[in-house]
Amino acid sequence: PVTRCYNLELVVKDLAPDGFTRPVWSINGQSPGPILQANYGDRILINVTNKFGDPASIHWHGIFQNGTNFYDGIVGVTQCEIPDKVTFLYNFTLKQYGTHWYHSHFLAQIVDGLRGPLIIYNPKDPYYGKYDYEYVMTLSDWYHTPTGILLPLFRADTYKGADPIPDSGLISGLGQYDCKAAPKNSTCNSNNKVATYVVKKGKKYRFRIINTSALVHYIFSIDNHPLTIIEVDSELVKPVTLNTIPINIAQRYSVILDANQPIDNYQIRAHISICTPIDNLTINYNSALNYNVTGILKYDGAKDKLPISKAYPLNTSEACRDVNPNSLKPYYEKQVPKNVISTIKALVNFNTLSTGKTVASINNSSFVPDTSYPTNQEIVEGVNPYKLPNYDNAYVYDCNSGDCNDAAVDIYILNNNTDSHPFHLHGHRFYVLYNGENQTGIKPPHKSDFNFKDPVIRDTVTVLPNSTTVIRYNANNPGVWFFHCHIQWHLNMGMAAQMIELPSIFKNTTIPNDVTALCVGDDLDNKSKG
Ligand code: C2O
Ligand code: CU
Repeated sequence: PVTRCYNLELVVKDLAPDGFTRPVWSINGQSPGPILQANYGDRILINVTNKFGDPASIHWHGIFQNGTNFYDGIVGVTQCEIPDKVTFLYNFTLKQYGTHWYHSHFLAQIVDGLRGPLIIYNPKDPYYGKYDYEYVMTLSDWYHTPTGILLPLFRADTYKGADPIPDSGLISGLGQYDCKAAPKNSTCNSNNKVATYVVKKGKKYRFRIINTSALVHYIFSIDNHPLTIIEVDSELVKPVTLNTIPINIAQRYSVILDANQPIDNYQIRAHISICTPIDNLTINYNSALNYNVTGILKYDGAKDKLPISKAYPLNTSEACRDVNPNSLKPYYEKQVPKNVISTIKALVNFNTLSTGKTVASINNSSFVPDTSYPTNQEIVEGVNPYKLPNYDNAYVYDCNSGDCNDAAVDIYILNNNTDSHPFHLHGHRFYVLYNGENQTGIKPPHKSDFNFKDPVIRDTVTVLPNSTTVIRYNANNPGVWFFHCHIQWHLNMGMAAQMIELPSIFKNTTIPNDVTALCVGDDLDNKSKG
């Protein structure tokens, strides 16, 4: 293992991901940002220099941050904002591997472009010998209106809780848009580049697919090519081959594609589904509803022409759902921890306040990040920017009895509304013990229906409308871990809580002031692109 250094400069830049030019909250001038790569065991030092003209932060989605909770990047939970013109160093060691990503956890900057992949290679990966090359692919939705304009809507007393709809979708930062719908004075090109992946016939490819959307769930497919799932979020699974793969927000799938078809171009399709009531009255000019975001799988040697391949039948019942959790089995058998130290019932809801405004809540409490301390100026002057826990929407648990290595927390996510919600827990991957559907009401399920034997392990799970999902995780990571719906608009409305884990241990953590470390480059255990 080595130490790797990355410099990320955050700067607002005019870009046209789908052909429509708008200011983008970019990383090193691009969005998605560069692929951060490391090997298992490496330490990474990431210098984030904020030139947004606005505060910022970066969260490392799926990274456990064991012992480094203060680098989890959640403004108002684990750190203060990184002020404009300030460089903040994230510094952590990766005792894990797989497909992750990074994104802003401040305001809704993630929607404006602050997001990118984070991949940790593992040469001991049992699938390593099963493919020749690998690609990273991000899916996202895309809004033409900066969130600086959209967000105040959420604060308005008239806000009724419908989510703003995107204008288009992107595959690895590229999308198409029909400029006829754009306002007159905009800069817009209807013939934008299409995301294209070149493969060689006879080779096998691992695609690491990440849904980085604010609102959109995708049903993903590549014409003529069944895809074999080998990794879910960052956890290896036994192979499952599917033609279409539903991918909710923040989830990741690694799939193996066998380039065994005639040399030609094949359509890549990411079918948009929106899983919540949407607001047709917002300032969106056009709506990205019910269509495919497309890319091209191009065999080496194929002519430059658009694919005419045929889509797999769209299974609309996959919209707003996960791949059947019963079909996904962890590659490595794992013992579900048994020493339950806390059972949390989390009622997920929308609430209409007396003012008429709608907020989102967990147990009827709407989360508000504590951004009160210290001030930007004090951070610039050297006040420690790390947050101590505040206790808004907090659930606190310590291990006081039994085998604490085996300590477990159960969260019953009781969804009391007609939306589906992709719920994410920081600092952990969890066992999905129960993923209810079509329940009438939110009655807690019977333990006899739980899967304790081989439940799917992931970090983001879809909770179906008016249904309950039960997750369990090993409470072995002292820190404050955010727990929230990954629909950005629901998060901004307060659909979040904090898990304050083993405070008797982490209250003694000393937070570093200054880090000096030697940065050494080293070969990555990845396979180059095709
Ligand atoms: Cu992608 Cu709070 O996380
Ligand atoms: Cu939600």
